[in-house]
Amino acid sequence: MKPEDVKKVGVIGCGIMGSGIVEVCAKAGAEVTYVEVDDERVEQGRARIEKSLARAVERGKISEEDRVGAMSSIHGTADYEEIADSDLVIEAATENLEIKLEIFRTLDQLTRDDIVLATNTSSLPIVRMATQTKRPDKVVGMHFFNPPPIMPLLELVRGITTSDDTLEFARGMGERLGKTTVVAKDRAGFIVNYLLTYYLNSAIRMLEEEFATKEDIDTAVKLGLSHPMGPFELLDLIGLDTMMAVAEVLYDEFKDPDVAPPPMARRMVHAGYLGRKTGKGFYDYTS
Ligand code: CAA
Repeated sequence: MKPEDVKKVGVIGCGIMGSGIVEVCAKAGAEVTYVEVDDERVEQGRARIEKSLARAVERGKISEEDRVGAMSSIHGTADYEEIADSDLVIEAATENLEIKLEIFRTLDQLTRDDIVLATNTSSLPIVRMATQTKRPDKVVGMHFFNPPPIMPLLELVRGITTSDDTLEFARGMGERLGKTTVVAKDRAGFIVNYLLTYYLNSAIRMLEEEFATKEDIDTAVKLGLSHPMGPFELLDLIGLDTMMAVAEVLYDEFKDPDVAPPPMARRMVHAGYLGRKTGKGFYDYTS
């Protein structure tokens, strides 16, 4: 199948990343069905997409007509059977290997065996998901960045079983979605999260050591390096749970203590201080 022939896209998970991926695919003209674990999560996902599309209209990025068109091509469900006729599925479930393996077994049984199954994992091995299927050559990493409707990069991850055709399809699909693609091998963290984990962990350790305040570290990075956000603002955007899960995977792969989750971040995850999504992380978002 060619990227331009993809009419129906299935997306698994409609959290921060899934909802953004749904939006990006719908804006590119696909009919999108997303699957969430229950009706409440289906509704929460829909609300997220509505909010982001409304903001895109406000910012003059899309017309009101495009917003209505995109919303009408999006359907949410708690029933996996409804994505059986997809031409491409992108999995964006929680960053937990066991959950993802189970999802890939289900997707392999339900969908046509000629379609590509992609995962938005930020760090987990593509080959583990691929080998849950009878089409390991058609499983590839399509790693979007947060927030997916705004960030222009799509990192493609080639597992050792991924075929040339699948990689080319993913590259073409990325272009259709308006993204610039880069290719990485299947190693923990790929390109961006490998670099990002060292950077964010270093910032957390600076704070743990009371070397500087979080506000000053954020200001220093924004004004001294021209980053749009400082490390603590970025951690709150990504979610500390997600970033620490990535750090665990990198530590597991490389056994480098510098990438292990710093104790302060672990404690914050245990307390539910995950960032914007829970209203509190390094900063408070409740007011
Ligand atoms: N839809 C489309 N465009 C939108 C939009 C929306 N819903 N909301 C805002 N925009 C556009 C704006 O119009 C603006 O475009 P122009 O530059 O052309 O004017 C642009 O996005 C930025 O606007 P703002 O600064 O007002 O947007 P914001 O404050 O809402 O968001 C941000 C800012 C884009 C998040 C910015 O702070 C940023 O880039 N932060 C860094 C994000 C980052 O590093 N992400 C990567 C995280 S790592 C990751 O994701 C990997 C992983 O696996 C963990």
